[in-house]
Amino acid sequence: MKVLVVGGGGREHAICTAVSKSKRVDKLFCAPGNAGISSVAECAPISVMDFEAQVKFAKDNAIDFVIVGPDDPLVGGIVDAFEAAGIPTFGPNKAAAILEGSKAFSKDLMKKYDIPTAQYENFDNSDAAIEYLNTKAKFPIVLKADGLALGKGVLICNTKEEALEGVKSIMLDKQFGSAGNMMVIEEFMTGREVSVLSFCDGKTIKTMTSAQDHKRAMDGDQGLNTGGMGTFSPSPFYTKEVDEFCQANIYQKTVDAMASEGRTFKGVIFFGLMLTADGPKVLEFNARFGDPETQVVLPRMKNDIMDVFEACVNGTLDKIDLQFEDNAAVCVVLASKGYPLSYEKGYPITGFEAFDNKDDYFCFHAGTKMSDGNIVTNGGRVLGITATGADLKEARAKAYEATKWISFDNKYMRNDIGKAIDEA
Ligand code: AMP
Ligand code: GLY
Repeated sequence: MKVLVVGGGGREHAICTAVSKSKRVDKLFCAPGNAGISSVAECAPISVMDFEAQVKFAKDNAIDFVIVGPDDPLVGGIVDAFEAAGIPTFGPNKAAAILEGSKAFSKDLMKKYDIPTAQYENFDNSDAAIEYLNTKAKFPIVLKADGLALGKGVLICNTKEEALEGVKSIMLDKQFGSAGNMMVIEEFMTGREVSVLSFCDGKTIKTMTSAQDHKRAMDGDQGLNTGGMGTFSPSPFYTKEVDEFCQANIYQKTVDAMASEGRTFKGVIFFGLMLTADGPKVLEFNARFGDPETQVVLPRMKNDIMDVFEACVNGTLDKIDLQFEDNAAVCVVLASKGYPLSYEKGYPITGFEAFDNKDDYFCFHAGTKMSDGNIVTNGGRVLGITATGADLKEARAKAYEATKWISFDNKYMRNDIGKAIDEA
């Protein structure tokens, strides 16, 4: 098979690494890819949002199967574009990707089908939102821009003043652009967060092993929200009991709800869960693999990933016995100092050879590029260093050891990824 992966971050490097191990793949392409992905795939510099050029590239190279990584092209309908060209593609079509593309849609879906989530109201104008804050709201409260906002469209407001300011910045000043044409105001919940990724074929859903992300920039969950500074898998807080509850009340119900709405979902549903005192509740849905969750989940998967992708597209996922190693993985993100605000790029990176010929260490590239024969920093999140181990403690020790193998100017990381496991 000839396979194309669309995207170019750490998640796509982890997907390409898994696909490159498939016995069924003889040629792998990635568009646009990055400096690390080019060691397992042939990269083509095509924007993920240039659907016409992506489809033309797939046709010109006789691609048999496409896998789409990021949210923007999924929500924009890239799967519909590949399917119209007759190319089987892993990922939800535009009608289904709304599960991530509109938070107002996903909240209404959960209410209609009785899927546990925070209490909420949707607003399409700021006057009604302000009226609600002035009369009915309890604080803290959570404001969410409806559309995609690079993971930044969620504001947790401790006071009415902050919330009024938040409505202004989302709906009037359009801080997140058209993502703020509508907004959700919801109840503030407390508890541990867990990410559960799942494969879906429209009818059947099979969950992968659990993971936990660290969204804040600094140790102790301080600082600004980021795309994710590190992950571990499995989550010791995702117990058998929690899994049974979610299997019965959340996962299959979501797939069935989407099918009932005429929005059959094929691809990955990422359940962002909060384990509250009243039981697990859905914080958010994503319509794709998580980044950097994928960097700890896929290295633990036993199946040939192409078998699973094809079963999702063909509607035969019930025939797949999805299996994960009985081990653990930790990923520590190496970022550029200053991320998520401003940072410098273009610094040479050294030390990659230490990862060669080791199957329990991975150096996933996120923001890197080739420059004059050197690999240089090219983004806020530069690399994801993953290690597997017999348990979380061993995986964490190995991942932090491996962060020392890599050097570049302005290298920044959190030093407490996976610290929560000490409390488990
Ligand atoms: P989301 O993009 O919806 O996952 O929100 C980003 C982050 O905001 C989540 O990972 C949570 O840490 C936090 N968050 C979102 N919704 C709530 C809520 N209702 N209560 C408390 N925290 C929340
Ligand atoms: N790690 C969170 C996300 O991919 O949205």
